[in-house]
Amino acid sequence: MRKRTEKYFMIEKLNHVAIVVPDLSKAKSIYEGALGAKVSDIKPLPEHGVSTIFVDLGSTKIELLHPLGDGSPISKFLEQNPNGSIHHLCFEVQSIKEAVKRLTEKGLRILGDGIPKIGAHGKLVVFLHPKDFLGTLIELEEI
Ligand code: CO
Repeated sequence: MRKRTEKYFMIEKLNHVAIVVPDLSKAKSIYEGALGAKVSDIKPLPEHGVSTIFVDLGSTKIELLHPLGDGSPISKFLEQNPNGSIHHLCFEVQSIKEAVKRLTEKGLRILGDGIPKIGAHGKLVVFLHPKDFLGTLIELEEI
């Protein structure tokens, strides 16, 4: 791991790849059965409007997501990608505050009000505007 300095921030480990799927049970059987992965049970996260399955790959993980409840933040995405699709990548950072500061200084956009929120893993996260990052929604998570 490279050393963090006060001059810049950097993304570190790929924490997870999130994939929105139309059917979590089917997704579980594909990752478990066909791919032989270590897969969790379906876990509802009502406060985030999603149900998830975690695929544990040791050094990183895949999160399979499905909308939960009304106004889920991923409902529209599933409508636009009815067969499922990669939704975002999540990278770990040492300091979310530093990351937000450096990125906004460069004119790069943080989604929402730009204030870090507690994410699905109980850690501070922000999401970066996909139009500024080659069409990919990026989540930063403070470790
Ligand atoms: Co995520």
